[in-house]
Amino acid sequence: MAARHGGSGGRAAAMAGRLRLGLLLLLAFVSALAVASGPKWRAIANDGVHDPASPAIGLLQEPREALGGLAPDTAGNQVRWMQALDQGQIQPRTNIHPETKVNLRTTDVLLVNTSVQPIVRFPHRQHTAWLDCVNCHDHLFEQKAGATRIGMMAILMGEKCGVCHGAVAFPLTECNRCHSVVRGSPEHLRFGTSLVRESTAP
Ligand code: HEC
Ligand code: HEC
Ligand code: HEC
Repeated sequence: MAARHGGSGGRAAAMAGRLRLGLLLLLAFVSALAVASGPKWRAIANDGVHDPASPAIGLLQEPREALGGLAPDTAGNQVRWMQALDQGQIQPRTNIHPETKVNLRTTDVLLVNTSVQPIVRFPHRQHTAWLDCVNCHDHLFEQKAGATRIGMMAILMGEKCGVCHGAVAFPLTECNRCHSVVRGSPEHLRFGTSLVRESTAP
């Protein structure tokens, strides 16, 4: 009995610790966002990455010039990459070797363990436009809806969706780009009792 109480007390404390850590991380993200706002793209000479004395300054293309004509975003590197691709503003090569098979998938998968947040709709179309199945399967996610334990904490720590989001894809501050399906909304009801559906949404 005592052991059981001790056990659940330990679990509760661990949970509270995880929640506090989560809040701290969220706050860190929000403040990072505040710092990142300001001029849209810094010039290469004062981006804090390139040596302003380097002869490459003046030769390298400025981000403003490269990215300025693409669908704008208010987060991350200020480009809404999915729109840029869908609108044909960029045409990335799908394969280098002609024998490489390009794999596409167009299902949406609902990830419903989101507590009070809206449900997450994971869209395969948007991902397989840039990535191959093996970039995610099966080391990050099972090929079975509802089979993977994900969790926001793991994502904030750079695992699962966080391997890319916040690193090379739109940042984790954009909660509702992932948490996009309100429970009981027409979009949710269209899935019926299933977690998977052919995509109709953009
Ligand atoms: C960016 C990561 C990512 C890529 C790339 C990806 N998937 Fe998935 N896939 C997921 C996630 C996330 C789930 C949901 C897992 C869960 O619910 O546990 C999933 C679920 C599935 C499922 C079960 C649901 C369904 O749609 O029927 C299948 C089958 C599947 N993927 C096949 C593929 C194939 C085939 C490819 C390549 C054409 C692919 N996936 C590319 C992340 C990815
Ligand atoms: C890149 C996509 C993505 C973004 C951005 C995102 N989430 Fe999540 N979130 C998820 C996924 C996936 C899950 C797990 C769903 C599942 O396993 O069924 C999740 C789960 C959660 C949960 C459930 C509890 C938990 O610990 O797992 C909460 C609460 C949550 N997210 C809050 C947020 C908030 C607040 C933000 C914005 C600051 C946010 N999320 C941004 C994908 C995302
Ligand atoms: C292997 C890398 C990778 C992983 C893992 C990954 N994503 Fe993405 N995701 C991308 C890229 C690349 C894009 C397109 C560029 C962008 O929108 O920033 C994208 C786009 C999206 C979009 C579409 C945004 C739009 O504008 O239409 C959603 C929604 C999304 N991801 C959710 C998720 C969720 C939820 C997970 C985890 C279950 C996840 N992603 C895991 C790389 C990834």
